[in-house]
Amino acid sequence: MPSIRVLSVASEAVPLVKTGGLADVAGALPSALAPHGVEMTTLLPGYPAVMAAIGKARRIHGYGALLGEPARLLTAKLDGHPLIVIDAPGLYRREGGPYTDAAGREWPDNWRRFAALGRVAADIAGGAVKGRRFDLVHAHDWQAGMAPAYLRYAPLPDAPRVPSVITVHNMAFVGGFDRAILPALGLPDYAWAIDGVEFYGRVSFLKAGLVSADAITTVSPTYAEEIRRPEFGMGFEGLIEGRADRVHGILNGIDAAQWSPAADPALAASYGHRHLNRRTANKRALEAEFGLDQDDGPLFIAITRLTWQKGMDVLAGLTDHIAGIGGRLALLGSGDAWMESAFHAAAARHPGRIGVRIGYDEALSHRMQGGGDAILIPSRFEPCGLTQLYGLAYGCVPVVARTGGLADTVIDANPAAVQAGVATGVQFDGVTHETLASAISRAASLYRQPEVWRIIQKNGMACDFSWGASGKAYAALYARLIEETR
Ligand code: ADP
Ligand code: GLC
Repeated sequence: MPSIRVLSVASEAVPLVKTGGLADVAGALPSALAPHGVEMTTLLPGYPAVMAAIGKARRIHGYGALLGEPARLLTAKLDGHPLIVIDAPGLYRREGGPYTDAAGREWPDNWRRFAALGRVAADIAGGAVKGRRFDLVHAHDWQAGMAPAYLRYAPLPDAPRVPSVITVHNMAFVGGFDRAILPALGLPDYAWAIDGVEFYGRVSFLKAGLVSADAITTVSPTYAEEIRRPEFGMGFEGLIEGRADRVHGILNGIDAAQWSPAADPALAASYGHRHLNRRTANKRALEAEFGLDQDDGPLFIAITRLTWQKGMDVLAGLTDHIAGIGGRLALLGSGDAWMESAFHAAAARHPGRIGVRIGYDEALSHRMQGGGDAILIPSRFEPCGLTQLYGLAYGCVPVVARTGGLADTVIDANPAAVQAGVATGVQFDGVTHETLASAISRAASLYRQPEVWRIIQKNGMACDFSWGASGKAYAALYARLIEETR
């Protein structure tokens, strides 16, 4: 089979830089696609962490002025797959996060930083780098949204037509900027239009990608339907509805090399579905780490951005309830300052029952999945969600709101599902104090029926959320778009 060459354009990718699920997915795609005849090269901005990780790398192209800044393209490897890094010190070499400074303020020149990412993608696809040819560009989220837009509106002269796909990992981040940036983007005047990059009087990079790409994918089938409605479409519902025949929901997978309890170096004790009792050692270690009492009640965990999307304001109001029903909560997260304080206050009110870690800690997140009894995910919307998939794989039973990818991946332990022996978690409708409280209580009462609980855990561990089917679906989509463009 001749291989399809795809340029994947992302603002983060595991193991080099991660702020959320996008990085897990961008990092896993090259290996997920390889068995299906796709050679995927990843294009990433040269943040300090990325530059440090690639070390001495070969230069393959230079720019006198990329969006006004000198830059060079370097070639390296990402877990054995090809990687191209944009080394543009004026844009990316600064301390802080990929999108914000150390204090959490958005970089004021984010439009320039991510327009540059899109521009480079379109140039590479257009043949700017000798010896590198691509059949398709796959852009992720608003940060890469300008890649399809440059391919549509401002390709390199004489460039072959290269089709593009944009994956929406989160519709809530529109990449909106003042229209004053328009001249600096280097788009033709007609791109400023209702079916172009204009979005409520501003420029939106996400919209630029959504109107320009040959196909739009999102990371679960249910979210692909939800974004056709105003509650989830964030103002793009009309556009999505209008392009419905171009919209596909392809569920994220999980990378078994990073996430399997039988071979996870982060865990005190490794285990498989036949040795669930070994989880106890992890649970005891986790209790100690969070300063929690050791008892027979359920140990709930949460690993999350502390934001409205994730329903963490609602969970913050339920810590008394968790303690009151004999449960405990270990929470790892960072985000909105008031939520961080609310969880700290809860921990102070309930010593031994509520433990809180504010920050980002990859290894701890593994220890929590390996030792917690149930993971709480009360998201108001969730394009896919990965922590419920990790929970399923680790026998840490997900308690989730019925939305997006959470609806698609968890089977609620209602009486019929329990009787049929197919339940994998607890689902509830609508994120309110009452609905989440009752879901937590329901999880606790299932936990107190050890035989039932064990079956729920095992069912989850038996689910196949590897990349197999989704890798195949992406490969089929790429092949179709390439065929269509010929
Ligand atoms: P989102 O990308 O919307 O934040 P996902 O569930 O898709 O949600 O992915 C979140 C990813 O980030 C998961 O890999 C999760 O384990 C990880 N994560 C979130 N918060 C933290 C944290 N504070 N420390 C470590 N890992 C975290
Ligand atoms: C986004 C979404 C999350 C999804 C992740 C990876 O961050 O919020 O639901 O799992 O992207 O696609």
